Amino acid sequence: DPLQLELATSSKRKLRRFVVIDEVVDELYGSKVREYFEENNVQHKILALPTTEETKSMDLVLNILQEVQNFSIDRRTEPIIAIGGGVCLDIVGLAASLYRRRTPYIRVPTTLLSVVDASVGAKNGVNFLQCKNKLGGYTPPVASFLDRSFIQSIPRRHISNGLGEILKMALMKHKGLFDLLKSHGKYLLDTKFQSYSGSTDHGDAALQTTRIAIETMLEELAPNLWEDDLDRLVDFGHLISPELEMRVLPSLMHGEAVNVDMAFMTYVAHVRGLITAEEKEQIIQCMRGLELPVWHGGCSWPLIKKALMERLKHSGGQPRMPLPTGLGVAEIFNDTSEETLERAYKLWVRD
Ligand SMILES: NC(=O)c1ccc[n+]([C@@H]2O[C@H](COP(=O)([O-])OP(=O)(O)OC[C@H]3O[C@@H](n4cnc5c(N)ncnc54)[C@H](O)[C@@H]3O)[C@@H](O)[C@H]2O)c1
Ligand SMILES: [Zn+2]
Repeated sequence: DPLQLELATSSKRKLRRFVVIDEVVDELYGSKVREYFEENNVQHKILALPTTEETKSMDLVLNILQEVQNFSIDRRTEPIIAIGGGVCLDIVGLAASLYRRRTPYIRVPTTLLSVVDASVGAKNGVNFLQCKNKLGGYTPPVASFLDRSFIQSIPRRHISNGLGEILKMALMKHKGLFDLLKSHGKYLLDTKFQSYSGSTDHGDAALQTTRIAIETMLEELAPNLWEDDLDRLVDFGHLISPELEMRVLPSLMHGEAVNVDMAFMTYVAHVRGLITAEEKEQIIQCMRGLELPVWHGGCSWPLIKKALMERLKHSGGQPRMPLPTGLGVAEIFNDTSEETLERAYKLWVRD
């Protein structure tokens, strides 16, 4: 913010920033980040941490808070900056929300999943007692700075991981987004979501995909920021996956577990007669094209039943099961019988 920089240079107090950066991101981009702060004469503390699903815990939150206290930030004018994937953003968001009851923070997502999902809403959190995101809160960041060039250095599998959450929005809300993924999925994987000028058959598929994914996500999240309404289309892929992801850790990434859940639910929708066999096939083919797993050995029938029981506890006694009713349209259902689920499960395993 040039205006803020000017104010800072003219004021006696030096601009200060406390930054938490994922260790891997620090190795790749840390020198540029430091250079930026130095050039702009910003006093800074950069805390590099291993932020992974396994370390996503209260211990790391407390580590950060200790360092924040040592750096002694001004709670009103010195937002904490988080640079990393969804795990880093979630941990730092929780730390910021606790420090002096609420300290502003800024998200700088560096993975595809965190660009299109973890940096969009207000939620933050950490895992607790083997349970995914069991401790957390709703504290929106003051800003999210999106720079897709970070995505260049993530492995291909991580692009697929982010594509899982994008496909979720496509299946629930946006046929055009589904078509984009079908036509340009491989190109997006090959080019790591970067924009290239010059004429290709793909236009600026990366920009279009990212924009629609974020807009559709915002449409769902913004009117229901505190999740008072439990009927949420964005929960598609998130009924069974929390149980699955934690059970098989670290074999499935978040977006992959979400996709396994969505693949099963696609079969449920088909068995219920909500989508045709051809639509089901298109969805599964699109998932394969995005190099996402459409099945996982750990996703047993008992696990599905347990996950759905857990779901009931947290969704006011109703399953509130989002299911596609076509391509890019969906509804929430509370009346899927166990028999339907079992039939869908058998078909899914057979295929
Ligand atoms: N708060 C929310 O609303 C929300 C939404 C969706 C997901 N999430 C959370 O996000 C987490 C998943 O996020 P993720 O998929 O970004 O995983 P992640 O944060 O674990 O990052 C994956 C790996 O990529 C590395 N990495 C990050 N950026 C990189 C880069 N630019 N180049 C090379 N390597 C890089 C990291 O070191 C890490 O090992 C989950 O814990 C999930 O619960 C939160
Ligand atoms: Zn998710």
